[in-house]
Amino acid sequence: MMQAYTTNAAGELTIGGVAASTLASQYGTPLYVYDVSVIRDAIRAYKAAFATQPIDYSISYAAKAFASVAMFQVAASEGAHLDVVSGGEITTALKARFNMQNVSFNGNNKTDAELELALDSGLGTVIVDNDYELDRLSNLAVQRGQQQDILLRVTPGVSAHTHEYIMTGQVDSKFGYDVESGQAVAAIAKAQALPGVNLRGLHAHIGSQIFETSGFVAEAQKLVAVSADSNFQPDIIDLGGGFGIRYTDDDQPLPATAFIDALTPALQAACAERGLTVPTIWIEPGRSVVGAAGYTLYTAGSRKVVPGVRTYQTVDGGMGDNIRPALYQAKYDVLLAKQPAAAPEETLTIAGKCCESGDILATDVQLPRVQAGDVLAVLSTGAYGYSMASLYNRNPRPAVVFAENGKSQTVIRRETWADLIDHDEEYAGL
Ligand code: LLP
Repeated sequence: MMQAYTTNAAGELTIGGVAASTLASQYGTPLYVYDVSVIRDAIRAYKAAFATQPIDYSISYAAKAFASVAMFQVAASEGAHLDVVSGGEITTALKARFNMQNVSFNGNNKTDAELELALDSGLGTVIVDNDYELDRLSNLAVQRGQQQDILLRVTPGVSAHTHEYIMTGQVDSKFGYDVESGQAVAAIAKAQALPGVNLRGLHAHIGSQIFETSGFVAEAQKLVAVSADSNFQPDIIDLGGGFGIRYTDDDQPLPATAFIDALTPALQAACAERGLTVPTIWIEPGRSVVGAAGYTLYTAGSRKVVPGVRTYQTVDGGMGDNIRPALYQAKYDVLLAKQPAAAPEETLTIAGKCCESGDILATDVQLPRVQAGDVLAVLSTGAYGYSMASLYNRNPRPAVVFAENGKSQTVIRRETWADLIDHDEEYAGL
């Protein structure tokens, strides 16, 4: 069964009420298009799920999934907060005039320049990963006469891999303070004693594309236990992101309510057991906010038939705009934009134009007859598509368009060949 999609009276694929063929001819291909209403609905679903629970909460959109000024403005308009991981994402938030008090800053190797930018911009919460960062942040804040709210990122020993989670004595991770070895308890004491920082709670992130609730429950229990072991009453427990979405029929995502209905009582029970007041709960969804909203439109080009083996249908983009198939063996549904519901007539492997055999967007997908010039749509590319795009082979990055209520607008301009050489300097030997 194909992912749900919308069509017009002519039976053509539409995105945000605009025909995909119109978007392709107006803006060119390859093109990223977001149905903004799907983004709004995803944020609203988390809010509605929390609204049924007796708990304070905050939904912090994980910017890394798709960072742009327009996206941050949509997140703000839906009341979401923002989690950033770089100076570039902070700069984007500033350009979007995001309320910086509602921004948190993750990352395991923040530079001095990034910490200074965070302090200068009034960023709400720095999520401190390690002692090297904690010491530098404390110093920088003291130098400026500032008091910076922080959470500590801990590695709770819970690791979720889509359909199961594992609880180990020590998870091998580059992120955060390890719980099992006592690093987390020591860090809480250290942070409480340091000037310039105000410890407000703990953060963890257990994985991505998760399809079950038990890992989050175990994570909440672990964060409460570490706090109680430190005689620390957190104001905030941040459980990170990772809520899974559907790419193909292989994926069966849970609704937002399933996660929130499981983790909220788990947090309350753990707090009651350990004598803590229930803190405000933060989550950081990225993929589940923007993933299903995004489409990539391509124009079909050359074709190679390997008799008895496979038919390669090439498109005008590829691994430069979507590295996920090559990097993670990720799978996607593909539609013929002009007739998405037409009966399949051929089995095609959708190949990109990069000079690399692994540049395949989808293997052996069923499609109606596809001809050169037809527009193909790859579905659910909204998360980690544009944000992981590269300039490999010096192919410019596509434009990003937002569509909503039957209208559309460019939100990131297409790069040009001239843009690609703009930073190049000539070299005549030294
Ligand atoms: N919070 C933290 C601290 C994270 O590290 C991440 C993702 C998130 C939130 C958001 O997770 P989400 O809700 O999007 O699953 N490039 C990979 C995904 C990497 C995720 C890294 N961290 C992909 O394309 O699948």
